[in-house]
Amino acid sequence: MEKIVIVGGNRLVGDVNISGAKNAAVAIIPAAILAQDICRIENIPNISDVNMMIRILHQMGAEVKMINKNTYEIDTRNIVSHIIPNELTKHLRASYYLIGALLGRFHKACVAMPGGCDFGVRPIDQHIKGFELLGASVSIEENAMVDVTAERLTGCPVYLDVVSVGATANIMLAAVKAKGLTVIEQAAKELHIVDLANFLNLMGADVRGAGTDVIKIRGVEKLHGCTYSIIPDQIEAGTFMVAAAATGGDVLIKNVIPKHLESITAKLVECGVVVEDGDDCVRVVAKGRLTRCNLKTMPHPGFPTDMQPQMTVLLAGADGTSIISEGVWDNRFRYVEQLARMGASIKVDGKIAVVEGVEQLKGAPIKAGDLRAGAAMVIAGLCAKGTTEIENIDHIDRGYEDVVEKFAALGADIKRVNTPEPESMAEVG
Ligand code: EPU
Repeated sequence: MEKIVIVGGNRLVGDVNISGAKNAAVAIIPAAILAQDICRIENIPNISDVNMMIRILHQMGAEVKMINKNTYEIDTRNIVSHIIPNELTKHLRASYYLIGALLGRFHKACVAMPGGCDFGVRPIDQHIKGFELLGASVSIEENAMVDVTAERLTGCPVYLDVVSVGATANIMLAAVKAKGLTVIEQAAKELHIVDLANFLNLMGADVRGAGTDVIKIRGVEKLHGCTYSIIPDQIEAGTFMVAAAATGGDVLIKNVIPKHLESITAKLVECGVVVEDGDDCVRVVAKGRLTRCNLKTMPHPGFPTDMQPQMTVLLAGADGTSIISEGVWDNRFRYVEQLARMGASIKVDGKIAVVEGVEQLKGAPIKAGDLRAGAAMVIAGLCAKGTTEIENIDHIDRGYEDVVEKFAALGADIKRVNTPEPESMAEVG
């Protein structure tokens, strides 16, 4: 068991390089199944969710060559099985993309229900609706395997009832080789939807409109291999921006697309932070106490829900009362009880949190409840007076490459320590 130990109070100063986008990588890697060829994918973040997806492809029969820690060549010609066992997929939300990709290639898929962070109910009804409209029949078996088969896939209009990132991408994957035109209405506009569409098009697909709420996919017979570089991670960049701001720091955040960070920049500026855009970097400078703001998370281009916990930490130490509304997930404030242990004053009522800024957070032993909550706990530890010990850090490693090393290089007093397993566990082995 490992934990992260932080002695708070250091301003973050210096440069940090942002890795490739997790949520693009976990869609693009399974999309390579559709190519039946070799894809070279660059700027893949070295994080556990991505490594799990690569392992799954390898176990399916793909040849996976690591060129360096962020570049892989994936040859999907020899994949034969459309069945993926539960133990591989149960911790990974993005395993649902294997359904769309296998359906597109083999017209059948049998994949366990996806896992991932727990924010209350996470249905996949819109994915299923899309597959059915394309001509597939879908059943969920007793052992929670999703079984999808289609004699043929035929393009069709799909009107999503909710704006869903996963359903939009999954329907794109299933439709790129279907016969005719698929039109997804009320599509998600997230940056990784555009990145996935660019990757599919480079493989020979005909996907138009990604980044708007209507995506048109004209089916093609065959796709081919390509070389592709994944976009920088908006949320990792945002996490470092907020950490820099919350610690009163001065950090140059490199390898980013500043336009992708506009919604985050706007909120930081509202709190009194100076953000300067460069060509492929942003500099974040904060001095003195930051001020309150209100915040509502929304699908892109709104403020990202995956930045909500990190901003809550910043506002927990800002001057005044902030109101945060969660507009995407039903239950994404569970981490607040950990912040309360650090002296934060936050009241949650359903999807709204009222944050009364306190003078300073205090170090405490806390737990990372999920990926972004874990990132927020790290920021809280960096700002707090005294020592913070964070448990359950495997959640953080799912989505942040070299998180401890990157913060330490900016001057944080942060380290990863091994904790002995409780004796009873050690005996069990
Ligand atoms: N929804 C449905 N039915 C569906 C699908 C979604 O009702 O079939 C609802 C959800 O319950 C939710 C809303 O629609 O209320 C949005 O869900 P969406 O499908 O967009 O989320 P997702 O695809 O499961 C991705 C990211 C999440 C991120 C959300 C929202 C990946 C692998 N995950 O999840 O990222 O929070 O979009 O932007 O891309 C993270 O990176 O930490 C993370 C949780």
